[in-house]
Amino acid sequence: MRLDGKTAIVTGAGSGLGKATAQLFGREGARLGLLDISQRRAEGVAAEINAALQRTVAFACRADVSKKDELAPAIAQLRENLGPINILVNNAGIAQIKDFLDISSVEWQRMLDVHVKGTFLCTQAVIEDMLNTGWGRVINTASVAGMEGGPQNAHYAAAKAAIIGLTRSLALEFARSGITVNAVAPGLIDNILQAVEGRAQGSTVAGNISQTTAEQVRQFFLRRIPMRQLGKPEDIAHAHLFLASDEAGYVTGQVLSPNGGYVM
Ligand SMILES: NC(=O)c1ccc[n+]([C@@H]2O[C@H](COP(=O)([O-])OP(=O)(O)OC[C@H]3O[C@@H](n4cnc5c(N)ncnc54)[C@H](O)[C@@H]3O)[C@@H](O)[C@H]2O)c1
Repeated sequence: MRLDGKTAIVTGAGSGLGKATAQLFGREGARLGLLDISQRRAEGVAAEINAALQRTVAFACRADVSKKDELAPAIAQLRENLGPINILVNNAGIAQIKDFLDISSVEWQRMLDVHVKGTFLCTQAVIEDMLNTGWGRVINTASVAGMEGGPQNAHYAAAKAAIIGLTRSLALEFARSGITVNAVAPGLIDNILQAVEGRAQGSTVAGNISQTTAEQVRQFFLRRIPMRQLGKPEDIAHAHLFLASDEAGYVTGQVLSPNGGYVM
């Protein structure tokens, strides 16, 4: 129970890595706010967690992380359910595979808004709780694409690189406040394959790379991953758990990248 007595908000908790993190944090004793643009998915995950633990620890709410007017009432509602927020996992994200010349300015802006502005707004919305209690953990979601770039992925890679810059800046700014700010940069995680097949509920990748089969994507990346295996959502959840724990109190401004050796 490494998060016993702690409160945590996980954004994008309705699917994939956010769902796995919420499930693990619940088992580790945290009380949870599950924020997602899909109320239905967030409620589904909250119901699963509460049923598994046989008590109500998870509360769902809907908001688009990039919209301050939606976020403010959603966070206020979660704060009413949970009390002051101790841990924030900025995980909500979208993906799109597209040639650079085909990316529209609307698509560019949406990618930056969801990832960078969303991380900025969510952090601003909860950090005063952390300042007041003198303890806090902010965990942002980058990607190996933000570390080394990605073909047909310029807007996504740019957003993820910006998140790394934001993470380090906030780590510096809050270093003496008991708040750590770190990023997790996942490599290729196997839920992406379900997304390619269009099976992942709520995934945004599906429509964009429908020309490529999941098996082609898997083989493409397996050749490049030294461990010759894709990650699992739980690999990322455990990285989140470490950074959220008391044991990680001396870790700040870092990028932890579970990626099977893909980027070193
Ligand atoms: N899966 C991977 O291989 C991988 C690799 C590197 C980084 N990542 C990052 O990890 C994070 C989670 O990815 P995933 O694979 O679990 O994706 P996913 O599509 O399975 O889940 C993302 C969740 O975020 C929600 N969401 C999307 N836009 C939102 C918004 N504007 N406001 C609130 N919620 C929103 C979706 O509804 C969904 O429930 C993303 O930031 C992604 O960029 C994933």
